[in-house]
Amino acid sequence: MTDIAVTQSVSNPDVAAGVAQFLSPVVIDLTALVVNGKQAHWHVRGANFIGVHELLDTIVDHAQEWADLAAERIVALGLPVDARLGTVAAKTATAELTAGFRQSNDTIAEVIGQIDAALAAVNTAVKELDELDQTSQDIAIEIARGLDKDRWFLFAHISE
Ligand SMILES: [Fe+2]
Repeated sequence: MTDIAVTQSVSNPDVAAGVAQFLSPVVIDLTALVVNGKQAHWHVRGANFIGVHELLDTIVDHAQEWADLAAERIVALGLPVDARLGTVAAKTATAELTAGFRQSNDTIAEVIGQIDAALAAVNTAVKELDELDQTSQDIAIEIARGLDKDRWFLFAHISE
């Protein structure tokens, strides 16, 4: 450590705690989406197989990137993140996926359900961070915009 006084963050501790409160569920649900998206990627079968299989990998990559973005915002403000496997499993709002091979329409519906669970946490963060910390809110807005788009790309396979 240096002898020069340097603080962890210019944000006040209450702001950091609030950001952690609303971005932690985002990290957890996106981390669950990474794991469950891969499970879906491996087990999808049937109509539009290759397109859905590849799209699921893109969705997993995005979820990983956004989980990192949200987690590092919390850490940048000086607080830790708990996205250990057990914590994610205990706290995620995403539903357990059906095990084994699935037809693509069922896979798509289940993954949309996963995205919707993550979006609920993200949209709460957008709303609550408006007053608290707009820099963190900006991250939540970016994630919401991306998840909405990925949801559309999936939904377009099963809509009329
Ligand atoms: Fe793969």
